[in-house]
Amino acid sequence: MTSSNSNSQPPGNQNDNPADKLWGGRFTEATDTFVEVFTASVSFDQRLYRQDITGSIAHANMLAHVGVLTGEEADLIVAGLQSIHKDIEAGQFEWRVDLEDVHMNIEAALTEKVGAVGKKLHTGRSRNDQVATDIRLYLRDELDAIDAQIGELQRVLLDLAERNTDTVMPGFTHLQAAQPVTFGHHILAWFEMLSRDRARFADCRERTNVLPLGAAALAGTTFPIDRQHVADALGFSAIAANSLDAVSDRDFAIEFTAASSLMMMHFSRWCEELVLWTSQQFGFINLPDRFCTGSSIMPQKKNPDVPELIRGKTGRVYGHLTSLLTLMKSQPLAYNKDNQEDKEPLFDAVDTVRNCLTALTGMLAFVETRPDVLADAAGRGYSTATDLADYLVRNGVAFRDSHDIVGRVVAKAVERGCALDELSDADFAGISNALDAGAREVLSLQASVAARNHFGGTAPEQVRQRIRAARTALD
Ligand code: ARG
Repeated sequence: MTSSNSNSQPPGNQNDNPADKLWGGRFTEATDTFVEVFTASVSFDQRLYRQDITGSIAHANMLAHVGVLTGEEADLIVAGLQSIHKDIEAGQFEWRVDLEDVHMNIEAALTEKVGAVGKKLHTGRSRNDQVATDIRLYLRDELDAIDAQIGELQRVLLDLAERNTDTVMPGFTHLQAAQPVTFGHHILAWFEMLSRDRARFADCRERTNVLPLGAAALAGTTFPIDRQHVADALGFSAIAANSLDAVSDRDFAIEFTAASSLMMMHFSRWCEELVLWTSQQFGFINLPDRFCTGSSIMPQKKNPDVPELIRGKTGRVYGHLTSLLTLMKSQPLAYNKDNQEDKEPLFDAVDTVRNCLTALTGMLAFVETRPDVLADAAGRGYSTATDLADYLVRNGVAFRDSHDIVGRVVAKAVERGCALDELSDADFAGISNALDAGAREVLSLQASVAARNHFGGTAPEQVRQRIRAARTALD
């Protein structure tokens, strides 16, 4: 996380002149130097410079459009802002803590560049609606990038599932081998989770893409502004309908961290499985070496650090959700300085989510399954016992009786130390004459998965259909 302002100066020192501040007019005493650094946000909100400049350009053009500025004045302001944009990108902009935040740094630089006309930019506007606009623009861009990244990850999952439509693995309940499933089916479960995550982000984008500008400090402005003009210029699909609400609520950022928390929770579950699957005890898959690291003392080690780290970073995103909820919960309307604390959690949540998407996409593209190990594990634990019970029911045995018969078959296999289908005909006949030749056939792993051939089931046939449908939906 970007570190907050650190301050070596204890309270008690002052700068020389209150008139140095853009808001210094009513002050007789200069800001305490500790307070100056303590209240500044420029160390982290400079990240919003693009959105701040884009928003200011739209605002200046609108002011000219309604006649508050002349066309010439607006042109000068816009050119000045564009040139500041270039300076910042070129690393030739000096961010000043005494100018507090990104907004006042850019505004002061504008006046320095274009002269007195720069002082007209802030007409009919406040930093309160300005910052709310900047964050929404920022988050909208990030949501679009996240959406594209999720799309890539979805394709990688479909490819992995497609390579493994027929690979049989143990399906677990209570982490005990329960029934065989196909590896492709397991990966498609991840795909479903991710589809819902993507929809949640899309939903969040709807509510994020609303224009606060025009709310000014809290009550609106006396100038004849045209908010639709600004909304059109900035691509907002709606205009905030209440000025108090527009400047104060950060629920869209909370919604983002909530959707992020859910996705990270999914990632954490997947990563937990990847960690298990790469262990010597499971040995289900190989992760590419370039996504693993070694040990400084144990030469043989290949550790799944990337999935472990994603699992760990999940807590960090939950933390940001909690921070933002707590930040908001006691604020009376309208804007309060508390809201300056919204940025670091939001920025870090965005960075974390995007990095985890990049890591998972890169890693899962190269996961190799070990079908022999998976099949061997799938066969352990009498995992096709339910198939046998279902078979007997199809042949007219009542389910409770069939459950009992199969229970005795399992007990016999335990006694013999063999798999169910390794029991002899005589063993079968000794338990029940319902256990005919067909009974042995349903005990194979392939038969077991193929038989679950309905929408949502694990059969290779179903997995193939699901992949096809998902690809069509993605294109
Ligand atoms: N840096 C402030 C923030 O992030 C900008 C708005 C400040 N507004 C104010 N009235 N002090 O929220």
